[in-house]
Amino acid sequence: MAAQALGVTGTWGEGEVTSGVDNMTNSLWERARAVMPGKQSNVRRGAQGNPLFFTASQGARYFDFAGQDYIDFVGGMGPAIWGHSKEEYLEAIKSQLETLFSIPSTIAQTEAEVLLAEKIVEHVPCAEWVRFAISGSEAVQLAMRIARGYSGRRYVLRFHKHYHGWIDGVSGGDLPVGASDLPVPVPSATDSSGIAKHAHADSLMVQWNDLRALEDTLKKHSAEIAVVLMEPVMLNFGCCPPREGYLTAVRQLCDQYGVLLCFDEVFTGFRMSLGGAQEAFGVTPDLVVLAKAIAGGMPLAAVAGRREIMQVLRDDSVLVGGTFNSFPLSIAAALKNIELLERDNGAFYRRIDAIQEKLVQGIYDIGREFGQSFLLQGPRGVVHLNFVSGTDVVYAPNELLEKANWERLAKFNELLLSERVLVGGGSRFVLTDALSDDDIVDALNRIRSATLRLSEAVK
Ligand SMILES: Cc1ncc(COP(=O)(O)O)c(C=O)c1O
Repeated sequence: MAAQALGVTGTWGEGEVTSGVDNMTNSLWERARAVMPGKQSNVRRGAQGNPLFFTASQGARYFDFAGQDYIDFVGGMGPAIWGHSKEEYLEAIKSQLETLFSIPSTIAQTEAEVLLAEKIVEHVPCAEWVRFAISGSEAVQLAMRIARGYSGRRYVLRFHKHYHGWIDGVSGGDLPVGASDLPVPVPSATDSSGIAKHAHADSLMVQWNDLRALEDTLKKHSAEIAVVLMEPVMLNFGCCPPREGYLTAVRQLCDQYGVLLCFDEVFTGFRMSLGGAQEAFGVTPDLVVLAKAIAGGMPLAAVAGRREIMQVLRDDSVLVGGTFNSFPLSIAAALKNIELLERDNGAFYRRIDAIQEKLVQGIYDIGREFGQSFLLQGPRGVVHLNFVSGTDVVYAPNELLEKANWERLAKFNELLLSERVLVGGGSRFVLTDALSDDDIVDALNRIRSATLRLSEAVK
């Protein structure tokens, strides 16, 4: 299912460049193929796609060697919520560069780092103490080590198809159908090879949005579970929302069984609101992982949580390194980013809501015009498109796997790219502040062309 489900075709390393690709791209691709295995991230099978080299960006658009523009609905895989040329934001980074650009994270600190931690504590409900990192993947590892160090327990309980980065212990794994006394993830057909053989031995996995499955597992194994780790909205698989009351009930179950709860808010943090999904849903976890939108486009991540738990870092019982953990350019970017997010009483969020509504309504209108059963869902700031009939919300990955028309999505993604509409994994649209009304009109025209071509290709 992998490549089709992800809606991508083409292999970066093989075949001839297709028509329409300019000479410079063609020759760069040849040179790249001689010295690289592929693009710099291939966490999703089939996502290598065709050669695509960008030379510049402006506002909500990228440009290639032929000077063609691509409307950006990826936002640098999520972080670049201001688009590509927000002057005030870029100035903050430049000015930091001129003052102090490198700091040894085990030896010294900056005032900016303290200010940023104060801002996170002010906005994110569960945050009492904060530790910085650089990528979401490593911050997830940090959160798990903190949870295991604090509790002295072995298991991390995670959920089918939730994404927590590419590192062994959380990468992939499937959930066997039917009851299992110990719901350990089993290898999935889409898993990477090369993962350490016993990497998942200290994980448990249950279906998300299924309270009974969680309660059964907690009932049997809570004494050995260090933390329940979840994306509060499944932004990495169809943007499935939590069922009404689900997160609250999860919180209650974790309290009842004495197990820590960690929200992986790498994608939702600072995007859904200044306090992330936990603020939006009114459910406070014990720990949170933040990355992507926290710094508006620069690399930065953080783990925050209750003081009592984070104490394991202060007393050095949990040891964690990271050369770039307090990288001044990223810290400066994050401070400016949060200042911009706070401005005018959250005007950014109102603007994103308005852009999102226009885009979603526009795509649904196009779907009706051409008889295509689009399903669009997602929280503020990100929306996933799938081809699903007969429902206006899908809550679980299994339901999506069963109901969605993956071949059609694959074809549609190919057409979107040929219309130079850039979307993320599957068909995920990330909304940025840089998207103007004209950008949305232009994007909808291109999406309409792609849909027309789809309707002609797939009757
Ligand atoms: C929910 C979630 N957790 C963790 C990660 C990994 O973050 P990074 O790519 O910065 O390592 C991602 C990345 O997409 C994510 O969406």
